[in-house]
Amino acid sequence: MNPTSFVAAAILLAGLVRGQGSVEYWHPPTKGDVRGPCPMLNSLANHGFLPHSGKGIKLNDTVHALEAALNINQDIATSLFGFAATTNPEPNATEFSLENLGRHNVLEHDASLSRADFDVTGDSVSFNRAAYDETRKYWTSDSITVKQAAVARLARYNTSQTTNPKYTMSPLGDRFSAGESAAYLFILGDISTATAPRKFVEYLFLNERLPTAVGWKKSSHVFTPTDLVTAIDLIYNATGASAEDLQKMRARSRRGEVHGG
Ligand code: HEM
Ligand code: MG
Repeated sequence: MNPTSFVAAAILLAGLVRGQGSVEYWHPPTKGDVRGPCPMLNSLANHGFLPHSGKGIKLNDTVHALEAALNINQDIATSLFGFAATTNPEPNATEFSLENLGRHNVLEHDASLSRADFDVTGDSVSFNRAAYDETRKYWTSDSITVKQAAVARLARYNTSQTTNPKYTMSPLGDRFSAGESAAYLFILGDISTATAPRKFVEYLFLNERLPTAVGWKKSSHVFTPTDLVTAIDLIYNATGASAEDLQKMRARSRRGEVHGG
């Protein structure tokens, strides 16, 4: 073997051994693997940053995955792990599975961006085209703004309230919902402009894969709890101010003026 092919073989072998836990490694779930309602955690399992099985996820797996893949600091990861562990039906659990996350009204809530309501379809875990299409109607520019994200979230609330007789939203569910809109905007986007390229966000939701193929890179900014609080406040404030805008956007949507294709 010549030196060049030796190096190539060594790199390939290292990749196979390391295998999981990189943006290059990506495999969809296979038999026995579980996934849940979070497009990002599903993606991280597909990349092997989290166990590919989606099962037995521990605190150190969570801290490692969020830091290595997304530059999210360990305080956020630890806090989110604490919430995730409450979805495991075992008392005092020290691990969770992506499937556990789908337990309705623990963390999983109605009015999701890309999933149906549990009491409407019986499935609030799988990607749902109609729910997602409603959300993306409000992403009207190449760069999604806080206002667009906030209005999309409110529109999904409105649809759930008017179509789901068993609609519920706890204060925790509502905070998670705002956090999720903040997360796609700020983790995939640019924290300094509070915008995210629509193509990154769409790629994540549709493929459950980090959007490197369309130009995304892990942020060099370390995300702290302060960033998260700021981001959630931006979503809340934009929504609070936008009841009238929502009316206008609905009217525009009905007239077919809103991006939908
Ligand atoms: C949705 C948990 C990290 C983005 C969800 C849901 C859960 C969850 C339970 C379902 C809520 C629902 O829509 O009913 C977690 C946990 C995390 C985590 C435990 C960390 C340990 C992240 C990160 C991002 C993210 C880092 C960054 C982009 C989202 C988005 C949704 C979501 C955008 C909304 C999906 C939709 O509404 O269709 N997450 N998540 N999550 N998560 Fe995560
Ligand atoms: Mg949901």
